[in-house]
Amino acid sequence: MVSAVATRVETDPLPFDDFRNLSNDELERRILAVKARLGDSLLILGHHYQQDEVIQFADLRGDSYKLSQLAAQSETCRSIVFCGVHFMAETADILSRPEVDVYLPDMAAGCSMADMADLDAVEAAWSDLGELIDTSDLMPVTYINSTADLKSFCGRHGGVVCTSSNARAVLDWSFAQRKRVLFFPDQHLGRNTARAMGIPLSKMHVWDPRLPLGGNTPEAIQDSTVLLWKGHCSVHQMFKPAHVAQFRERFPGIKVLVHPECMMSVVEAADLVGSTEFILKTIADAPAGSTWAVGTELHLVHRLAKEHPDKSIHFLSPMVCMCATMYRIDLPHLAWTLENLARGTPVNRIKVPDDTAHWGRVALQRMLEIH
Ligand code: 13P
Ligand code: SF4
Repeated sequence: MVSAVATRVETDPLPFDDFRNLSNDELERRILAVKARLGDSLLILGHHYQQDEVIQFADLRGDSYKLSQLAAQSETCRSIVFCGVHFMAETADILSRPEVDVYLPDMAAGCSMADMADLDAVEAAWSDLGELIDTSDLMPVTYINSTADLKSFCGRHGGVVCTSSNARAVLDWSFAQRKRVLFFPDQHLGRNTARAMGIPLSKMHVWDPRLPLGGNTPEAIQDSTVLLWKGHCSVHQMFKPAHVAQFRERFPGIKVLVHPECMMSVVEAADLVGSTEFILKTIADAPAGSTWAVGTELHLVHRLAKEHPDKSIHFLSPMVCMCATMYRIDLPHLAWTLENLARGTPVNRIKVPDDTAHWGRVALQRMLEIH
């Protein structure tokens, strides 16, 4: 007689509920045990926005650009567990060796900015633009914070990926080949970069995918140099120029350092702008006793303040600007993913379909070759 009670067989993954209520000490012990057991066959990559209790287990950490390079250069691992968000794990899957499998500890760790542009909307925009301008003169550039199929779209159309650390070089490369750029999904990174290149605002137009012609007149499109997709980071949009002014008033001589996903008025009011890796290096190299206000995700700024007690480091906004999706990666999810991997019942594999991966790789390799 078959028992009515479901029993767990060895090939079933361990359920997440088994990990949810374990103490941090127990979770840390089990994570270390899997790391020791899997050795070099496991590579844990971590983005700088990860919470401290997770990032301590990353073998390597970086900004999006550095993490892409690390995935492309990995030589010994068979598995990458990515402590970051979905588009980063997709990128690692596209760029790593074919025998490497990539895992994301929580599938709900997405990026709200990446969700602001989808393939159907970008293809519709491309086709509408083709009615007005010659698209062979239009370079599609996607910020790495985008789905794999948008990277693939760029690959198929001669386009390229950029990150916050190489956007200027990528736009220089783009304009060496084509007259105009369609930049998605982050309007702010696109605008800040084009502004720094001296492109006037009158030549930049926002493309709102919900409106006919993106909300533009045909003349504006024909006159444009950069078309900026109407997307943004919900975390970085919370920093305002008034916050910069308040800090300057309170701490004369303070340096303001922000991420280029902040709006243009904040970037223009700041002293320095750059990727998370740039922010990290700038603070590390700053003289003892210097005072900083930093406009990027909260966990990174708190970590910087803790790691540099000889400097005075402030978070630029009075609000809590944290990336809730990055924060989804916690010790229970990491331990659950690692233990299932070690026992041969892997969970949460990120696998980009072959054709999408092929063209996505073309666009990512173009980026990696630009200096
Ligand atoms: P970085 O590439 O600068 O780390 O930025 C990634 C990101 O998502 C910032 O919001
Ligand atoms: Fe996306 Fe913003 Fe989070 Fe970066 S901080 S992962 S852009 S939502």
